[in-house]
Amino acid sequence: MTYKHIKKINTNKDFIVPCFKEHLDPLKNLVSSKTLDFEGEFSTSQLFFGPKGNRIYAVGLGEEKHALKLGEPFRKLCFDHQNHWNKSIQIDAENLTLDQIKKAAIGFEMATYQIGQFKSKKEDDTVLSIEFATSKDISALLHECKATGDTINRIKTLIDAPANQKTPNFLGNWASESSEKNHFKCTVLNKEQLEKKGFGAVLAVGQGSINPPVVIVMEYFAKPGAKVDIGLVGKGITFDTGGLSIKPSANLHYMKSDMGGAAVVLGVMELVAKLKLNINIVGVVASAENAVGSNSFRPGDVISSYSGKTIEIIDTDAEGRLVLADGLSYIIEQFQPKQLIDLATLTGSVVQTLGYSAAGMFTNNVDMAKTLTTIGNEINERVWPLPLFADFEDDLHSDIADLRNFSGKPIAGAITAAKFLEAFTNSHEKWMHLDIAGVSFGDSPYSKMKSASGYGVQLITNYIKTLI
Ligand code: BES
Ligand code: ZN
Ligand code: ZN
Repeated sequence: MTYKHIKKINTNKDFIVPCFKEHLDPLKNLVSSKTLDFEGEFSTSQLFFGPKGNRIYAVGLGEEKHALKLGEPFRKLCFDHQNHWNKSIQIDAENLTLDQIKKAAIGFEMATYQIGQFKSKKEDDTVLSIEFATSKDISALLHECKATGDTINRIKTLIDAPANQKTPNFLGNWASESSEKNHFKCTVLNKEQLEKKGFGAVLAVGQGSINPPVVIVMEYFAKPGAKVDIGLVGKGITFDTGGLSIKPSANLHYMKSDMGGAAVVLGVMELVAKLKLNINIVGVVASAENAVGSNSFRPGDVISSYSGKTIEIIDTDAEGRLVLADGLSYIIEQFQPKQLIDLATLTGSVVQTLGYSAAGMFTNNVDMAKTLTTIGNEINERVWPLPLFADFEDDLHSDIADLRNFSGKPIAGAITAAKFLEAFTNSHEKWMHLDIAGVSFGDSPYSKMKSASGYGVQLITNYIKTLI
């Protein structure tokens, strides 16, 4: 898709009329038909034909309560009808706010996502021009929407990619290519370098796989010499079998998506660089494949970590917290970021707790929590607070090592995982952990099986904008 700003609709060509419920006058002025089988209900649409045989789509935007999901009707319309559009389509955007135009444009871009990348017969991918008609100046906004939608689609492609293609090394190459294209620095630490530097936890998780682990370090400094405003750390497990504490086979194929946190970090770094935001930011992705093999780490093993702390492994399926522990210690030691956010598809427990409706948010910093909650509500990428009570510290106790990776109890799994991470944050006062297991990947009206949602890229990018 390309996006263009036009001043006025050419009523002889195809166009879209967005309509709020019970506000159908703009539509009545544009279509000759006296009766409308259309009330503006949310995400409904109706096709009329104009005097020149041109297509006129009425799109329902519903009521105030639908405001945060306003991109959805445009995404659905475009997904269902774009095959009938010839080169371009106009949209009457005079009655839309800038925020609504942004949601619409990102919705259009998301409609172009092609999940069938690996089918031998490819879908038609002709580039359409979407022309927004408004008297407002929206050229810069449209550029931002294109960049955002494009990066969201790119990270969805990554999350939906099969694990035989998407190795840790593949993620490293993805990051390197993105860094060259968008002008930021990227270093991919390979297995030998991880051994030399002491990434004991990442190495332990990855040791059962033929695909060696990597740690990706991305640096975007718009203000050279100044402090790092924010550090991001992502869980990049390219496939989670559970390791020797093996998972049941039902739905195991979905564990290709266990790098959803990493994907958000990769996407945010790319988008921040594309938008040339005036910020200093570092992204670290700790990536490994948690495989079953003769060299896999075992329950009962004691492993080392970048922090120097030793960890007793109770369950090899609690691997995300291990790779994140090294990522967190590394970013703090090397970059001292003023704020620190990690993202991970960390626990089944958060899905039990919050379902597919919100990410679990863990932080002791009230300001960060407030700001992120507000931003999440605005764009329908919600977060919901869960506690970091000291009560759970006993669950990390090991008799033989500094701490253990699992309490062994079937309770409060998302919280104990967060408490484990906290032990590697050096008591950072502006640290936040987001457990995105329920929101990163799931059911979608646009695929028959579960697929990537694109959650997180806008949430974190918009948060970063508040730090400028
Ligand atoms: N990758 C999983 C968490 C997960 C579950 C993500 C469902 C997406 C959907 C994680 O590594 C894991 O296996 N967690 C275990 C931890 C337990 C063994 C302590 C869990 O939550 O059951
Ligand atoms: Zn696991
Ligand atoms: Zn996992």
